[in-house]
Amino acid sequence: MKFASFPFNRPRRLRKTQIIRDLVQETHFSVNNLIAPLFILDGENIKQEINSMPGVFRYSLDLLMKEVGELIKLGVNNFALFPVINKALKNQTAEEALNPFGLIPQAIKTIKKSFPQAILISDIALDPFTSHGHDGLVNEFHEVVNDKTVEILCKMAVCHAEAGVDVVAPSDMMDGRISKIRGALDSGGFSDTLIMSYSAKFASSFYGPFRDALSSNLVFGDKKSYQLNPANALEAEKEIEIDALEGADMLMVKPGLSYLDIVYRAKQITKLPVIAYSVSGEYSMIKAASQNQWLNEKEVVFENMIAFRRAGASGVITYHARQIAEWLSS
Ligand code: PBG
Repeated sequence: MKFASFPFNRPRRLRKTQIIRDLVQETHFSVNNLIAPLFILDGENIKQEINSMPGVFRYSLDLLMKEVGELIKLGVNNFALFPVINKALKNQTAEEALNPFGLIPQAIKTIKKSFPQAILISDIALDPFTSHGHDGLVNEFHEVVNDKTVEILCKMAVCHAEAGVDVVAPSDMMDGRISKIRGALDSGGFSDTLIMSYSAKFASSFYGPFRDALSSNLVFGDKKSYQLNPANALEAEKEIEIDALEGADMLMVKPGLSYLDIVYRAKQITKLPVIAYSVSGEYSMIKAASQNQWLNEKEVVFENMIAFRRAGASGVITYHARQIAEWLSS
């Protein structure tokens, strides 16, 4: 496209007043685009602030219900659930992940009972339940084994579906898990349960505060044999295409901000909705800077939301969800 040259063309004419700027604004976001992560722990009457994530709490189910009710009042209807598992229940083989009376199935049932319209998304991976903190089973050589892990993930997905979850979100990065989980859900009678695949999940240090939140820090090794190398965009495209072919309903890119190019690529190469996960480290950076009055929190959070939408994200999982909803409604 050719533009007439200055002085005939003056792009600033389109930016002259707020009203004209609003008219030509290309991207928007609303409360509908928000997914709120929730940390759940065992017990009663507990609301514990996470040290490395000021303003984010772990809730026992009774107080979580109050939080969910308030979020729904604010217009946030999508929730990603994460369990904080007692150390005594963690082991090498992650049995607790399949407990139908475990924290997550219980939370799903209780929330759905009071708020049937809420969309509940459960994380499918073993790291909250393993004593070593890896997302899968580990063999005697400290390798994370693929196919045996996928078998457990399938059972875990069915367990959550039985409790009534709307969306399962495999975050483990094992090979072949999407088609296997789809198959397991379908044979279990859950053909309407959606799969939101963490397709392009990178081995990132931005997950640090989350691992504190869950006490799921690694006892040995790192996650680089399953999560993607931050340097590789083509490999991310490959994972995205494979998950789309295997039957994922939605794709996720994670972390968010440093990987907006991957969000954009996912949008270009598939027709699926893409979700960006603005992870714990992104939240903590903004919080720390704004608590020091180095940044205007609301303005940078809104700017980031627009950036996610501009890159092509339909939804954003963000620890700022509640604050964004409050800012939007005030
Ligand atoms: C578990 C999982 C992680 C996150 C979401 N699901 C941690 C990890 O992979 O180590 C990170 C979320 C965040 O940092 O906010 N598989």
